[in-house]
Amino acid sequence: MAEAQVGDDVLGDDPTVQELERQAADRLGKEAALFVPSGTMGNAIAVKVWTQEGDEVIVEERSHIYNLEVGHLAVVSRVIPRPLPSHRGAMDPDFVERHIRKRALHIAGTRLIALENTHNLWGGAVVPLANFQALREMADRHGLRIHLDGARIFNAQVASGVPAREFARYVDSVMFCFSKGLAAPVGSVLVGPREFIDEARRVRKLLGGGMRQAGVLAAAALVALNEMVDRLAEDHARARRLAEGLAHIPGIRIDVAGVETNMVYFEVDHPHKTAQDLVHYMAERGVLALVSPTGAIRMVTHHDIQDTDVDRALEVINTCMTA
Ligand SMILES: Cc1ncc(COP(=O)(O)O)c(C=O)c1O
Repeated sequence: MAEAQVGDDVLGDDPTVQELERQAADRLGKEAALFVPSGTMGNAIAVKVWTQEGDEVIVEERSHIYNLEVGHLAVVSRVIPRPLPSHRGAMDPDFVERHIRKRALHIAGTRLIALENTHNLWGGAVVPLANFQALREMADRHGLRIHLDGARIFNAQVASGVPAREFARYVDSVMFCFSKGLAAPVGSVLVGPREFIDEARRVRKLLGGGMRQAGVLAAAALVALNEMVDRLAEDHARARRLAEGLAHIPGIRIDVAGVETNMVYFEVDHPHKTAQDLVHYMAERGVLALVSPTGAIRMVTHHDIQDTDVDRALEVINTCMTA
């Protein structure tokens, strides 16, 4: 980062950002890319570019874009989200098709479908490629766009063996994050067709996401893209090890088979202790976890977590639950 060559990325002449955008687009098999400060901004820009005010956007009911991005669909794009249920993030194409609304005198009409892979609130589940193919085929019959919130698309790649660009092939645009499992401190990217990215650049500026000497950040993102993808398998193995350990602790409820990638969600099922109590106890001993909006506890493995850290976490949780 300290050695990065920089320019002014608002003017589009930062060479390190340009290189990152070239590589990101290439990796996902799309024409162009745009470096953005966060995943939320990348998703917000994508929705804004693909839609007009009043359009409907089909979202999965537990999706991050709908539940955890402060309502930018309504606030930034002024669109109507239509949340639909799914099986672990995979929406049934026939069911989705029945909920498409055609533009008419009283109806704004459906414009966009938003997908997520891996799926955060479904415990880091991998949405299968076949679901992408079926949704694409159906969306094409209705002239709809598809945006993928691929914050963790490389976790999906590593867990399923399906290259990220294969998932990307069936959607119009993808956002993915260099932060999170790929371990960069900051940054996400939006990829898609050239014209879409040209417009996205204007919307990024509108939202205050144009950054000047952003090459210092892009340098870390290049390391993320080139050196951090394959090692995600280690995070997945450690998450599985954590889940298997948790399954043996009294008062913990967990679906071990549901742990497919780097996220471990579990519940506290104890007469006197709540999820909040456990997370508080853990934090005091240096083990950090979140209580998710569903009330489950979320733990995530990453670059800086080793096997010994997993063992230590299990020991702390076990002590709390058996005290
Ligand atoms: C699936 C998903 N999409 C988008 C985001 C948003 O990313 P950011 O926190 O960089 O805005 C997150 C963050 O956790 C996420 O899990």
